[in-house]
Formats: sequence, C-alpha cells, structure tokens
Amino acid sequence: MLDMNRIPASIAIIMDGNGRWAKKRFLPRVAGHNAGMLAMKEIIKTSSTLGVKHLTVYAFSTENWKRSDEEVSGIFKLLVKYVDSELEELNANNVRVRILGDYSVIPEEARNRIEKSLAATASNTGLQFNIALNYGSRAEIVRAVNRINEDIREGVLGEDTEITEELLSRYLYTGDENGNIPDPDLIIRTSGEERLSNFLLWQSAYSEFVFTDVLWPDFTPEEFKKTIEVYQNRDRRFGGRK
Ligand code: IPE
Ligand code: IPE
Ligand code: MG
Repeated sequence: MLDMNRIPASIAIIMDGNGRWAKKRFLPRVAGHNAGMLAMKEIIKTSSTLGVKHLTVYAFSTENWKRSDEEVSGIFKLLVKYVDSELEELNANNVRVRILGDYSVIPEEARNRIEKSLAATASNTGLQFNIALNYGSRAEIVRAVNRINEDIREGVLGEDTEITEELLSRYLYTGDENGNIPDPDLIIRTSGEERLSNFLLWQSAYSEFVFTDVLWPDFTPEEFKKTIEVYQNRDRRFGGRK
C-alpha cells in the first residue's frame, strides 16, 4: 500500500521506450512520442493528486539531436500541441511549468509556446512540472562553471569567491533564479534501460533509482504508484547509520 504520508517530494523520470512502443505496433516513431505525451499528462495529474512537489521529466537530451530531422521536428511539434491543449488544465490544477536546459536553440514556434506556458503558469503554487529540454548534465555543469567565472569577472561575485557545493548548485539549471529544485528523491527510468544518459548527474548523488521494463507510453498511474511503493520500501542512509 502506498503511504500517503511519505510521498517523495521530488521525482524525476527518464521517459524512455517510445520508439520501441511504436515499433511493436508497426507505427512510426513519432506515434510513440505522441503516445508518450498522453502518458505524461496522466502522470502529471497523478503527481498533483499525490502531493508531489516537483516532477522533473527528461523530454529531450543534448544527444537526441543525433536522431533524424523527421523525429526531432516531430517531437517539437508534439510539444507545441501538448502546451496548446494543456495550458488551461495545467492552470486549473495550479501546476507551474519550468524548463531545464538550453531551449533557446529549439524551433521558434516551440520556443514561443513554451515561453507562453512559463509566463501563464509562473504564479501557480501547486506541483512544479520541470521539463528537461535540450538538457544534458555535463553541459549543465560546464555552463555553471562558466557562469560562475563570468560573475567573478563582472564583479557579481567577489574575486576571492570560494567555490562550494552550494555555490555550484545555485548555478545549475535546478538552482537558478526561478528557485531551487530539490535533488530528486526518486529517479524512475522506464523501458528496461538502466543508465542515466546524462540526466541530473550532480543532483542524483543520493537519489533512489527504480527501473521498470514498462515502455513509457504504457506507464500508467498504477505503475507510477507501484514505483513509489518500491521507493517507500528503500532504506535511505545518506552515508550514515540508522
Ligand atoms: C524516449 O523514447 C523519448 C526521447 C528520447 C525523446 P525513445 O525515443 O528513446 O524510445 P526508444 O528508446 O527508442 O524505445
Ligand atoms: C534519454 O533517453 C533521453 C530522454 C528520455 C529524453 P535516450 O533513449 O535518448 O537514451 P539512450 O540513448 O538510450 O541512452
Ligand atoms: Mg530511448
């Protein structure tokens, strides 16, 4: 049974397996991404209901540009479609949207729609839904170091600034001026792959990982609750002793 008093506050998901889901059905890969969007909608709703504070999803990695133009543009088109159709519902559910990653380089239409959704949900106080888009953790860490360097050069930070874990964290996408996203308590990856694929390397230092063979489009709220139950049976020690 799910313990409603111990719902993880910060959950991150590597939504993987859309392509394989489509292949099994002899459908184009983009059909898999479409089905994945539908699954994502349900998981957002369930996260709100369960009282999760932060849901962070890996939607497009810095490495995903290696895919065909057709697939890449299909993914961004779906994103526009999602934002357009869901904005009202996100607002009704008090969900705040935020982007992690350099989305300045994604197609203009998608970028505009994303900016619209960020602005429209900025003052919502319920679930914070973080979309990792053109996100890569190594790029994020390098960017943080460069930004610290820049702030020292420009006098925003003192010349003798000591680099600490806390300072570096603040310069990551998860710690920027839009507020701190707590390190994920739980990281879920679907589709049977067991790797991080450049997702939240710094932030996952003490996350619990739950891997499931379920392909992302088949990941239902029931499956989601099952993974949270697995998490609740873990013993988190953070290097100490119980
Ligand atoms: C995850 O599904 C979605 C993205 C990476 C955008 P995939 O497209 O990676 O699906 P598989 O791994 O090929 O099945
Ligand atoms: C990770 O999945 C990225 C997203 C889910 C957006 P990939 O399918 O791109 O990762 P690899 O290539 O299997 O490691
Ligand atoms: Mg994949």
